[in-house]
Amino acid sequence: MIFAANFKTNHTRKSTQVYVKELNEKLAAKKPEDKVYIFLPATALDVYEGDFRVGTQNAYPAVNGAYTGEIGLEQLAEFDIKTILIGHSERREYMGESQEKVAEKFSFFQKQNFEIIYCIGEPLHIREKGFEAVMQYLLAQFEGIDIGYDHLIIAYEPIWAIGTGRSATVEEISTTHRALKKVIDNKPLLYGGSAKPANIKEIINIAGVDGVLVGSASLDASSFSQMILS
Ligand code: PGA
Repeated sequence: MIFAANFKTNHTRKSTQVYVKELNEKLAAKKPEDKVYIFLPATALDVYEGDFRVGTQNAYPAVNGAYTGEIGLEQLAEFDIKTILIGHSERREYMGESQEKVAEKFSFFQKQNFEIIYCIGEPLHIREKGFEAVMQYLLAQFEGIDIGYDHLIIAYEPIWAIGTGRSATVEEISTTHRALKKVIDNKPLLYGGSAKPANIKEIINIAGVDGVLVGSASLDASSFSQMILS
């Protein structure tokens, strides 16, 4: 299983150091085949020792240059970061990243051989239209994306389940993952959206779920490790 923590705009460099220390102590008991990722805010990126991979939540598709407020490949290379989240719904929505921009970012980091966790997900009004509308919406988020890329993990995150405390139901996750799996070959497929210690077991037991991308419940090292060790 894959367990990925997305800190979003939470934690500082200092609190991340404390977090990593606690996580490392807990991870001593994890199954060797389980993989752990932590996606840190840019100010907390560093070289951390431990049985996990550090990724960036975002970067600009350039080595360096005049892109005020952004970080590029050069800044990531300083800390040996080779993993990136692309297409998260918060970036699409709040930062106005279009599918075209997302695809441009994807192909830049693909060329750099980064491991990419690519996020897709539908808003509530689409989910309410029914399954066909959901799949049509999700498939449009693969536009310009090379789903044959070797170092690709996909995360299905229904927007209405993110940060709301209300996860999608087992049935919703199961049918959506089953349909997505047909399109994405055998790429690992994560579920994200209010995954937490209380529902982790039932989520990871769903066929077609290869792991979880966790926001809120990952902010506390003991809650996140509880999920990993469950
Ligand atoms: P959540 O966030 O676990 O707080 O719902 C998930 C995500 O946005 O990746």
